Amino acid sequence: MSAELTRSVVDSLDGTPDPRLRALLAALTRHLHAFVRETEPTMAEWEQAVGFLTATGQTCTDTRQEFILLSDVLGVSMLVETVNSAEGGTESTVLGPFHMTESPVRALGADIDLVGGGEPCVVSGRVLSADGTPLPGALLDVWQADGNGFYDVQQPGIQPAGNGRGLFTADDEGRFWFRTCVPSPYPIPTDGPVGKLLRATGRHPYRPAHIHFIATAEGHEPVTTHIFVAGGDYLDSDAVFAVKQSLVQDFTQTDDPVLAREFGVPTPFRHARFDLVLNSVRP
Ligand SMILES: [Fe+2]
Repeated sequence: MSAELTRSVVDSLDGTPDPRLRALLAALTRHLHAFVRETEPTMAEWEQAVGFLTATGQTCTDTRQEFILLSDVLGVSMLVETVNSAEGGTESTVLGPFHMTESPVRALGADIDLVGGGEPCVVSGRVLSADGTPLPGALLDVWQADGNGFYDVQQPGIQPAGNGRGLFTADDEGRFWFRTCVPSPYPIPTDGPVGKLLRATGRHPYRPAHIHFIATAEGHEPVTTHIFVAGGDYLDSDAVFAVKQSLVQDFTQTDDPVLAREFGVPTPFRHARFDLVLNSVRP
C-alpha cells in the first residue's frame, strides 16, 4: 500500500507544465515518503514537526530569516552552495540569514564600522577573472557583525542601520579596500525554534569570526562567500558548517606607517589582504 501511495502522488504531478518543477516535486515526494517509512513517526511527532515548521515561519520578519537559519544549521545551505560551486574561482559559502537590508553605497576606503570601539582593521585586495585579469567596476557587497558579534538588524536602536555594511565598486585596476573592525565570533539567534533545536541536540550556536561578501562583475558568475579570521575560535565547529580552508585569512597586525597613512588608520592595525576570483559566465 505505501509504495502505491507514493506512486499515486508522483503520478498526480504528471500534468505539471514546468518539467523542472515536476521533477523537484516528484523527488521531494519520494524522499519525504521514504523518511516516513524509515522513521515511522507517531501522530504526536508529526504534529510536533508541523508545529516546529509553523513556528519557524512565524518567527520570520523583515529583518529575521529563521528558515534560512534552519537550512544553515542542518547543512542544507552549505550543500546547495557546494552542488552549485564551479572550480577555478574563489570558493563560495553560505549567504546566511543577515543579508536582509541593502548595503549602503560607500566609497573605497570608507569605514563600515560606524560605531567604533572594535579593533581597527583594513580589508584590501583585488577582484580578478579566473585568468588573472583585473575586473574594474566589480561590485562588492560586504556585511559583518560588530566587535560584539551582532548585526545591525539584530540591534535596531543600538546600532545605526547600515553599520557593518557597504557596497563598494572596485577601481580601474579591480582593487578594493575598506576600513572596519575585526569581527568577533557570534552565536546565531537562539531565542527561536532553531535555538530550541540546537539545545535539544546539545549543539553550540557559535560561528567563527567572518566577513561576508557577494562579488559581482559583468560577464562573470557572482560569488557569495566569507573570509574567516585565522586563528579564531570555532573554525572547526561552525554551527552552520560553512568553513572552507581557502577562505581562512590572516588578519595580520601591522604598524607600517606608510600603509597606515595610505588607508587613513592609526597604527597598529590589523590588515586582511585577499583577492576575489570570479569565473566567466559559462557560454
Ligand atoms: Fe555572518
